[in-house]
Amino acid sequence: MTSKIHSDNLFQTVEALLPQALHRDRHAISRELALLGKKFKSKKPDTPAREKLIAMKRRLERSAGIKKKRINRLPESTSIPDLPISYEKDRIVKLVSENQVVIVAGETGSGKTTQLPKFCLAAGRGIEGRIACTQPRRIAAITVAGRIAEEMGQQAGQSVGYKIRFSDKLSEETVIKMVTDGTLLAETQTDKYLNEYDTIIVDEAHERSLNIDFLLGIIKQLLKKRPDLKLIITSATIDTEKFSKAFFNAPVVDVSGRTYPVDLQYMPPESLTEDSNDYSYVDHSVQTVERIMRKSPFGDILVFMPTEQDIRETCEILEANRTPGTIVLPLYARLSAPAQSRVFKPAAGRKIIVATNIAETSITIPGIKYVIDTGLARISNYIPSSRTTALPISPISRSSADQRKGRCGRVENGVCIRLYSEENYQSRPLYTPPEILRANLAEVILRMIALNLGDIENFEFVDPPPARQIRDGFNILYELDAIEKGTAKGKSSPAGVRLTQKGRMMAKMPLDPRLSRMLIEARKNDVLWIVCTIAAALTVPDPRIRPDGSETQANQAHARFVDPASDFITLYNIWRALLGDPAANGVNNVSAKQLKQFAAHSFISFRRMREWIDVYDQIRSIIEESGMSPGNQTPPPVDESMSEGKNKGFPMLYTAIHKSILSGFLANIAEKKEKNLYRGANQREAMLFPGSGVFNRGGSWIVAGEIVETSRRFARTVANIDSAWLEPLGKSLCRYSYFNPVWQKSRETVIAQEQVSLYGLIIQSGRPVNFGKIDPETAS
Ligand code: CDP
Ligand code: MG
Repeated sequence: MTSKIHSDNLFQTVEALLPQALHRDRHAISRELALLGKKFKSKKPDTPAREKLIAMKRRLERSAGIKKKRINRLPESTSIPDLPISYEKDRIVKLVSENQVVIVAGETGSGKTTQLPKFCLAAGRGIEGRIACTQPRRIAAITVAGRIAEEMGQQAGQSVGYKIRFSDKLSEETVIKMVTDGTLLAETQTDKYLNEYDTIIVDEAHERSLNIDFLLGIIKQLLKKRPDLKLIITSATIDTEKFSKAFFNAPVVDVSGRTYPVDLQYMPPESLTEDSNDYSYVDHSVQTVERIMRKSPFGDILVFMPTEQDIRETCEILEANRTPGTIVLPLYARLSAPAQSRVFKPAAGRKIIVATNIAETSITIPGIKYVIDTGLARISNYIPSSRTTALPISPISRSSADQRKGRCGRVENGVCIRLYSEENYQSRPLYTPPEILRANLAEVILRMIALNLGDIENFEFVDPPPARQIRDGFNILYELDAIEKGTAKGKSSPAGVRLTQKGRMMAKMPLDPRLSRMLIEARKNDVLWIVCTIAAALTVPDPRIRPDGSETQANQAHARFVDPASDFITLYNIWRALLGDPAANGVNNVSAKQLKQFAAHSFISFRRMREWIDVYDQIRSIIEESGMSPGNQTPPPVDESMSEGKNKGFPMLYTAIHKSILSGFLANIAEKKEKNLYRGANQREAMLFPGSGVFNRGGSWIVAGEIVETSRRFARTVANIDSAWLEPLGKSLCRYSYFNPVWQKSRETVIAQEQVSLYGLIIQSGRPVNFGKIDPETAS
């Protein structure tokens, strides 16, 4: 009897504690309590149940303690700097209190990122759960956390903290948590309802990366299940209607505020062709910087470049001719955090910052007077015909160009120089399409399955991808052996698929799945870094150039790279000639001067070669971050091993490299029909591309890196392969049939001939298969 009363009290005590606890614990414990209550409705709780109740009580008390601590540690008042958004504070606080979703638009530098989390606090948020504020880039998450903490009279890690991949600065008292969007996505795997938070700010939503679109879709679902959750979407551009429509017609606040006039100048280069080796946008930018310096001694300069390699080269040239009193600073995402933060610190002299589009909206650099815009960025783009993702340097959209222009003129009049013509600007699209519409859907699906986002057709995308592309994406993933039919029906579309072990590894690499599949195989075959140079080459244009009038010389210069069996090896030979063995060398430190010399006497495009190195570096760091890096083991150099350890006529290293390539491009195999004419998957014919080193030398089987349709179908970037490599790689896609069964009396078994086909091509035939003993009774 006594024990019953005691337990009842315990039930009540735990129930009474619930409102004082943080949302996340309240949520977890009320569910447990409901279960326990149901079980012990009519009978008295047993000892394990009582122990459970005591544990719940302790957890709630601790939770209430943390909540109190968070409130107590908040400063009485925090400084609100004089920024455009500050004038809208009351309005925004009211809107946040009264609406589940609010959209805030405003120019970069108007104070959205630094002030909104504090406005949320003022609206009473951040107590039941934390306020999360997502950033597309790590550096922004770290510096903004520091900045907000400073405005609150604290240091990062107290009321304001951050969490990025591999590092965080948080404590129990943290109420504002800056996170990268990737980190918040990862958190949805362990905290499905994001119960840690009562408010989520999705910052920089105009970037529309896959991460942002996934988050918006997930949170949209959550908002229905968690009426207490608030969402604030911020965006730099004017395309806010789209967000409002997608989020139940949420109210939009514009905080753009006042800016100073910007003098806009168009300065296209005299002549700049694709193949020009001697004058590039780097030189053009450097000259523009120097002209500004001659004209006026004051005002920081921000130069926008498409790639890291460009930035390094520009800085190199600027450093070499540096005038005293100037500081040249690079800025790109992979730069170390301390090196990046130098751009924010006041300097004794004039700052020249050379940046990627990281400085376009996500980072505010104070005091820029001049902007020099090359009008270029690396923008990934899926090419359905070749079913691969290219990473070309492309013209940016008009709205991006306008953002770049807006980087000056925040505190005084500015000058923006566009290194292209006004007609060129006018001919550009208004917006960059969101990543989901540019990406290989196979990559999107792969990540969605890894994140358990459920049925892709039913996911709440702001811009849903077309159904046909979704089907195509699934087919690619089957082909790459990244997914298999699962038992859990309906968990992911269609009809329940799950990731294979390879698929799980591939999902960790933000790359086109064909490339990640190749790299996984290459690692297994001990040729990771070689295949990494080839994978990078497949995403950028061919670096070889044949200027009009010098075709013969160019061909002669290229001849020394050509491998008669494989265009992939030819590409690798170009790489090796300039950069050496990629497994032996970690980082590529080739100087612009070396690169220029090499380009000039080898008829290689300096720019494309630099793009190639840049993409290689990116892929390499993705591999290193995904934990797949094997360390710098050195494989034998190509030449020696090419001649020994032959595998059916193919050297060992050749075999290892091409098996890896095949794992990503299995659908691009073809069988010889006649000289230079091949029959590919589903009986479609393709000619060897006449520019290929394999032209006139094609073996009975080839693989192509690309099949292009111009005047006719051409297989480009091809290599001879052994058809015996195909079956193990395409196991699940192979079809098996049997012919000529023969009863072998002496062994009392049936022997038949097996035929293996892949994509309608017979890759193996005549292999005898023993069907085993047959019981004469049933055999008739
Ligand atoms: O997010 P939004 O672009 O609207 O502006 P913000 O990042 O909140 O920046 C508002 C102001 O704070 C800018 O004028 C920046 O110069 C300044 N700021 C800073 O000095 N240091 C930081 N780490 C972040 C912002
Ligand atoms: Mg911002």
